[in-house]
Amino acid sequence: MTAINIAIDGPAAAGKSTIAKRVATELNMIYVDTGAMYRAITYFYLNNKQHFDDFESMMGHVDLNLVYDEVKGQRVILNDDDVTDYLRSNEVTENVSYVASKDAVRKYLVSAQQLLAENKGIVMDGRDIGTTVLPNAEVKVYMIASVEERAHRRLKDNAERGIPSTLEQLKKDIADRDAYDMNRDISPLVKAQDAVEINTTGMTIEAVTERILQLAKDAKAK
Ligand code: DC
Repeated sequence: MTAINIAIDGPAAAGKSTIAKRVATELNMIYVDTGAMYRAITYFYLNNKQHFDDFESMMGHVDLNLVYDEVKGQRVILNDDDVTDYLRSNEVTENVSYVASKDAVRKYLVSAQQLLAENKGIVMDGRDIGTTVLPNAEVKVYMIASVEERAHRRLKDNAERGIPSTLEQLKKDIADRDAYDMNRDISPLVKAQDAVEINTTGMTIEAVTERILQLAKDAKAK
């Protein structure tokens, strides 16, 4: 049995984080939510943009770290403050694709993510994990679902977190974010050639998790 990394990519609200967390727990691996890292930089940008001329100079003032709390899971520490609870706000969500399209931001985060995964044992989800961050990951999954289903899932998520939203607005936001993420110049959202595509529309969380656990088992046996 060999140690592996698992890369899970796909568009917004496709169920990546729910599944990645389950897979990580089942396999005793660490789950890394890279979207939260882009969201943390966006949070910093929104609070400080008046001080910087460009993203290059802004990133010189960012120190981002992930820590793992047994109960709360991944926590995002930005310049010594735990900002995790601020990252899902509508303001951050509306601006994150723009911030994530900036070269200086991606360079900083991609190398931080590669460092996290260098000793294996990581389940990482995002948009460019299988293509750019971990091109040698032993398991690569590209997860998709219809916009309708993704908007319903996000509506439920938001209600649980106390974030106000409507189905129509969420459908529009998800479609806009997909378009932005898929059409940006630097590492756009695209399925890696060797990724296994899973369309989760109508599938249960358990069934998707099982499918990935089987892929992991096959990869470990190689
Ligand atoms: O997964 P999420 O919705 O939290 O991601 C937020 C945004 O961050 C998403 O719109 C695109 C960007 N992102 C990215 O460009 N690359 C990643 N590896 C992860 C997220």
